Amino acid sequence: TIPKRIYIGTFVHSTSLTDLDICESGAIGVNENGVIEFVDRETSSITDLKSKHSSYEDAQIVIPTNKNAFFFPGFIDTHTHAPQHPNTGLFGKTTLLSWLETYTFPMEASLSSLDKARTVYSNFVSRTLSHGTTTAAYYATVHVPATNLLADICLKRGQRALVGRVCMNTMSPEYYRDASVEDAVRDSKASIDHIRLIDPKGEIVQPIITPRFAPSCTTEALSALGALHRDTDAHIQTHISENKGEIELVKELFPHSKNYADVYDTAGLLTPKTILAHCVHLTPEERKVILARESKISHCPASNTAITSGCAPIRSLLAEGHTIGLGTDVSGGFSPSILENCRQAIWVSRHLAMSEGDNVKLSTNEALFLATRGGAEVIGLQDKVGGFEVGKEWDAQMIDLGEVPGSDAEEAFERDFSDGPCDVFGWESWQEKVEKWVYSGDDRNTVAVWVRGRLVHKHKRFSTSAMI
Ligand code: GUN
Ligand code: ZN
Repeated sequence: TIPKRIYIGTFVHSTSLTDLDICESGAIGVNENGVIEFVDRETSSITDLKSKHSSYEDAQIVIPTNKNAFFFPGFIDTHTHAPQHPNTGLFGKTTLLSWLETYTFPMEASLSSLDKARTVYSNFVSRTLSHGTTTAAYYATVHVPATNLLADICLKRGQRALVGRVCMNTMSPEYYRDASVEDAVRDSKASIDHIRLIDPKGEIVQPIITPRFAPSCTTEALSALGALHRDTDAHIQTHISENKGEIELVKELFPHSKNYADVYDTAGLLTPKTILAHCVHLTPEERKVILARESKISHCPASNTAITSGCAPIRSLLAEGHTIGLGTDVSGGFSPSILENCRQAIWVSRHLAMSEGDNVKLSTNEALFLATRGGAEVIGLQDKVGGFEVGKEWDAQMIDLGEVPGSDAEEAFERDFSDGPCDVFGWESWQEKVEKWVYSGDDRNTVAVWVRGRLVHKHKRFSTSAMI
């Protein structure tokens, strides 16, 4: 079990889409279950803190050794493909459909080997944790043993996850597809049962029904998965309106549907527990039905640029009231980092702004909201994670911005930069430090990561008052 801990220092989190709350000198008490029991915005001495919170008398005290550090909520990746990680950075000149055939299906098919799946998944979970991702919505592959293994690994490492066995029974290669609708449903159910067996309360891992996307599922398969959702109340994730060629294909394959969103709606797949990745080219009617069904949106900006899908109109989707989080979409996206995808979301909005005007630009604060609170709402965990409030669980990262560079110019010639981009931080306000972190920070600044109070990752530079 975890000891009670009091974290002392600077705390930063989003309080609304536009507002970042910065508490420069606070204290947060976290109990043995990883639940935040108090948030003090002003710290007195440790003795006073312990006498004020008498059940914390024997608590461990965690104070970053470096004053140039802060606590931030863990990142939430609302869309990523764990089996595609080894393909990171492979695009050639492909776009979605040719990219899937050239790179993605062969890679995913190779995870029929459980040994390979163990290596790929262990590596990817470690990698995302090291980037501060405390919760992820994962696509696995069609293979039940490998999908179940991914859930086992997340549970063991302590990363919150939705884990989905991928369904695809048509328009897919012979070597990588479901043989029938019955197979798709049976295998999906097998993974749901496994995940609910290993974590009955869904405290860390939960199942998610995963029709790959409309073109790879028949109408019957989509309806059967809609029925499976009604039977199991499991979450649902899929792709929608990512690429223009894909949208044309959906029109051909589903001539009787009003549009792409209607294909899912008719099958009972647009629900409040549905995560729709991309939403780049939705029509106004599609946006209306998605909003009416309270389905959620995963914005994957790095991927949308990398496979030249388009620029999702996030600002106007937000204005309409959609619930949106960020997704890395590895390996359509080239980075497992949500921080990188904050930058990419801002870049995409600025590219849109060049033709549509400055009002579509996302700010740093807005990107950080999508990365944390927005993501929590997308995944249905808004009561548990996304910010630092009493009653929420301690899913957090410690961001260490390094040492303020010395004034000796000669010393700069000798400086060791292997610990990350620390030399740009030093003199500015906390709001400015956070903004600079978004643009220039990386996983070397993420020195510790906790989920439900458990330390799940630490960097070699992690240094605190307590031995944990
Ligand atoms: N559409 C269907 N499958 C995929 C996938 O694996 N990645 C992305 N980005 N889009 C998809
Ligand atoms: Zn995807």
